[in-house]
Amino acid sequence: MSAADSDSILQQAAAELKQAGAGELDQLKSRYLGKQGLIGSLLRGIRELPPSERQAAGQRLNQLRLRFEELLAARRDELEQEHLQASLAQQAIDVSLPGRGPALGTRHPLTLTAERACAILQTMGFDVADGPEIEDDFHNFEALNHPPDHPARSMHDTFYLTDGRLLRTHTSSVQIRYMNMKEHQPPLRVIAPGRVYRVDNDATHSPMFHQIEGLWVDKQARFSDLKGLLLAFYREFFANPNIDIRFRPSYFPFTSPSAEVDIRFGRAKWLEVAGCGMVHPKVLDNCGIDSEKSQGFAFGTGIDRLAMLRYGLASLRDLYENDLRLLRQFA
Ligand code: PHE
Repeated sequence: MSAADSDSILQQAAAELKQAGAGELDQLKSRYLGKQGLIGSLLRGIRELPPSERQAAGQRLNQLRLRFEELLAARRDELEQEHLQASLAQQAIDVSLPGRGPALGTRHPLTLTAERACAILQTMGFDVADGPEIEDDFHNFEALNHPPDHPARSMHDTFYLTDGRLLRTHTSSVQIRYMNMKEHQPPLRVIAPGRVYRVDNDATHSPMFHQIEGLWVDKQARFSDLKGLLLAFYREFFANPNIDIRFRPSYFPFTSPSAEVDIRFGRAKWLEVAGCGMVHPKVLDNCGIDSEKSQGFAFGTGIDRLAMLRYGLASLRDLYENDLRLLRQFA
């Protein structure tokens, strides 16, 4: 092999290395230096040369191999540098961009509505009470004067647990829990906001919704007091002294007489916002309160409905879809 041969092998190797990516370097190396490789087989061929030529050929081939290894190492370095530069460029931080500050949440319109309603009722002297969402039959139905086979139970499509308990269908269960506490004797005034559940799901009903229960028991709490209280409450809630409400006769086992309350919007548009009535004497007796000595009234108003009216929402769904563009408008 002449010096010219050796040069042309090197030139070819240099050209191939230049084209090679990082994954191809090992392959190239064995194509040149491996046993079957170009330089490798030339090295092995030295044995067949006449002894006088072996030393010179050996030196030249060794040179060639060293040069090839240098070229290979140089290309490896080059590729590593390229890779490093590329990943640095990718991770570059634009320090002139404005930062992402902490994302502040806003309170949900239902929370705002419940808080507003409770705040108004508290100024009217009501305590705030709480009760469990997983209830038993006694507090949700029986003590509220629904005997076991009472048809009014089917007015509520109830979610039952396998152990016989249920998801409360209304906040009226808190009336029973509150009055059953020894320390709560008439005169008493209490409200109970919270979630309630019914097997119901369409444009105007969701399987979970919210109510505020109200209960006022005294020696002489009358239906006229209930009317005045609710009128004052809704006028304050909607910040509109001209709001009209009407009472339609209705039926609840735990109140007598009972009514449903509508609010007028526009000329002749009435929207139902509450159920109410005089507390049934049996309910008081069930709670150890002497119905000969005390009487009172109760009401349950829907928070979701109030939120829709207050914020002008067209659909109940809007309250449950967690669309921040919508929710942020009311904060
Ligand atoms: N609990 C009744 C309902 O959910 C509403 C109500 C409350 C009626 C208090 C009368 C008294 O429909």
